Amino acid sequence: MTDSVTKSLLSALLDRACAPYRPAGRFAWRFARGKLGGDPVFQALLERGLIPDHARVLDLGCGQGLLASWLTAARGQYEESVQVRPFPNSPAWPEHWPIAPRVQDFHGVELMPRDVDRAKAALGGLHPRPRLTLGDICDVPFEPCDAAVILDVLHYIDIPAQDAVLARVRDALAPGGVLLLRVGDASAGLPFKISNWVDHVVTFIRGHRLPRLHCRALIEWQSVLLRLGFQLDAGLPMSQGTPFANVLLVARLG
Ligand SMILES: C[S@@+](CC[C@H](N)C(=O)[O-])C[C@H]1O[C@@H](n2cnc3c(N)ncnc32)[C@H](O)[C@@H]1O
Repeated sequence: MTDSVTKSLLSALLDRACAPYRPAGRFAWRFARGKLGGDPVFQALLERGLIPDHARVLDLGCGQGLLASWLTAARGQYEESVQVRPFPNSPAWPEHWPIAPRVQDFHGVELMPRDVDRAKAALGGLHPRPRLTLGDICDVPFEPCDAAVILDVLHYIDIPAQDAVLARVRDALAPGGVLLLRVGDASAGLPFKISNWVDHVVTFIRGHRLPRLHCRALIEWQSVLLRLGFQLDAGLPMSQGTPFANVLLVARLG
């Protein structure tokens, strides 16, 4: 159960992370509110301290850049509530949460021009300003990073391409770096089928051709990562509040 301190912090964070999307248009703002408010992964990244402090973050398939806005909002809220200057009306940072990470650099890569346009319209005022590249994660070179985030993206590319992207991510990550990979678990029965069906519909509406999805069972995702030399934390179920079968894999380089 979410306590009242956490609830008011999350509500302030949601307002703060969505505000930059207002100039990008009604759709961009509403989409940001729906996704950041409804997807459990954004809270989990903060409350579990999954993004290291001072990280160079690489976000593959970044959509309209919600993660960049979320992390910037979190750091701003954290500084206001506990650290630099106490703002009396700012909600407290929950005591059981780790500090909000300061992002040193944020690089998002996204295939869809409309998403990149919305991200650029919204996020130009953030500090540091996220770098957004329009391109295919199969082709765009990855710069050195400390955290690579791939949320609900890899199943759009075929299996050899998935493996190639993961190998390039491993090569780009600094020692001690972390890959946060959210995937659907193809062995999860009905919840997986529901995720897949919703994915087809949403992807089609977003302007992709009706996609063929390339899904794998959780155990296959885990073995690819182990083969690449990652150490895996226990996979975190990451579809609370939805009927889906998503898992967040936390893969670290020693
Ligand atoms: C389900 S959305 C997730 C967006 C974002 N990661 C999030 O969690 O909010 C998947 C995103 O991956 C993008 N995508 C799919 N294939 C891609 C590729 N080959 N290269 C870059 N982006 C891709 C889609 O356009 C879409 O924005």
